Amino acid sequence: MKFVTAINKLKTNQALIVLVKSQAKSSPFLNADELKMLHEAQKDKRQHLYLNNGKQIKIVVIVSDSMSWELSEKLRKQGAKCCQILNEHKIEEVTIASFDDSLSLALAEGLVLANYQFIKYFSAPDKQANALQHVNILGNDISDKQIQYLNTVIDATYMARNLVNEPQSHLNAVQLSEAFKKIGKQAGFDVEVWNESKINAQKMGGLMAVNKGSKTPPTFNIMEYKPKQAKNKKPIVLVGKGVVYDTGGLSLKPTPMSMDHMKCDMAGAAIVVAVMHAVASLKMNLHVIGLVPATDNWIGENSYAPGDVITMYDGTTVEVLNTDAEGRLILADALHYAKKLNPELVCDFATLTGAAERAIGPYATAFMCKANDNLKNKVFESSYSVFERLVEFPLWQEYADELKSNIADMTNLGKGEGGQISAAKFLEHFTDYPWMHFDIAGPAFNHAVDAYKPKGGTGVGVRLMIDFLTQLSQK
Ligand code: BES
Ligand code: MG
Ligand code: ZN
Repeated sequence: MKFVTAINKLKTNQALIVLVKSQAKSSPFLNADELKMLHEAQKDKRQHLYLNNGKQIKIVVIVSDSMSWELSEKLRKQGAKCCQILNEHKIEEVTIASFDDSLSLALAEGLVLANYQFIKYFSAPDKQANALQHVNILGNDISDKQIQYLNTVIDATYMARNLVNEPQSHLNAVQLSEAFKKIGKQAGFDVEVWNESKINAQKMGGLMAVNKGSKTPPTFNIMEYKPKQAKNKKPIVLVGKGVVYDTGGLSLKPTPMSMDHMKCDMAGAAIVVAVMHAVASLKMNLHVIGLVPATDNWIGENSYAPGDVITMYDGTTVEVLNTDAEGRLILADALHYAKKLNPELVCDFATLTGAAERAIGPYATAFMCKANDNLKNKVFESSYSVFERLVEFPLWQEYADELKSNIADMTNLGKGEGGQISAAKFLEHFTDYPWMHFDIAGPAFNHAVDAYKPKGGTGVGVRLMIDFLTQLSQK
């Protein structure tokens, strides 16, 4: 179902969200009384006004800035507020009317992202469901393309959130691969799944070690979207951490507030498949490949143990000093695989370190990169447009020195301080191409609602990457 539609005529008595400039003397959507109330509200410095004349509900949103990324974000947040009001009043359909289409689009985005629910496991999901089902944008100049883009971004964000919210009881590595195949078929991209024997035969030692204590087999997933006339000669590769649950392994995590939300540890994988879905649905002019190593990090009689030495896919030997630093082990094998693809750029997404979360909280992604300024500027531009902020950390040699082992090529454990950087240095060892690393441990999973980002999986990274790839497809 497409949530957002453009219309060019108002339906009678339909619930309405009206955007007005802060000093507006008139609006085609408000009568004299309503304008009076609007002026009163502005005196109190209110940013929105709720009106109900018994027949029709109107929410007036007051816009006081000029268009910028800051205003877009304010409007998304206003959209979330409207969503709450509309659902409280059991409104099923609403129309947004504005003096500027781009404002309507930003508000609609926030509104629909806020309307997300994960209710499939209630015995009576229908009773829990929000009333709101449809958003219209009134405007003559909005193109089908803009609407399709918005709906695709929403679908992809919902998809990533759904996968993150799915518990490991219902989503193991094999089931995750099944989901990828289904999504690939739907959107039009290829999915190849390596099973356990192929992974063993290929000697993906990082993935195999992490999976040793598991009751279910690992998978390695290769997704490819290759249009006939792609702009890029070399593929863009997206890599996602697919740890469907992270107990910490024998270096066991304590609960609560540590292990209890670790179903989110495949949020990187969710970004990759959701972005693949969007790229294929929008028929972007780009050759894009997605890689996901998937397993849980469990405890069992065969679990790998602190002190073990393992041999990675690329031949590097690693002394495992903490089995909870598992993400880097499985990602390293995927990053080594990516070398064979001769990539233009590799971007990896991972709920990799508590250190990233401690450094910047849930407000941003820890970003580290080895790519040219042109690509870097573009990704930062996208991060502001969609308001998924990035904080860059340096890839200094000292953090790699922390990983020295006296019995193997390296260890998997740096110091606690700056741990997001030593983790990235570990990964860097397995790359030989332009590379961007997104540690999303902070923003991937919310413990409370935050405007248009619900409790649980947020889908962070999805809107960022769709915007970034859209830029690349237009270059
Ligand atoms: N999945 C965790 C990181 C994480 C923490 C994700 C919080 C989301 C929220 C990762 O596998 C992990 O356990 N990292 C360890 C690494 C350490 C042992 C070097 C950590 O950060 O504590
Ligand atoms: Mg861990
Ligand atoms: Zn993990």
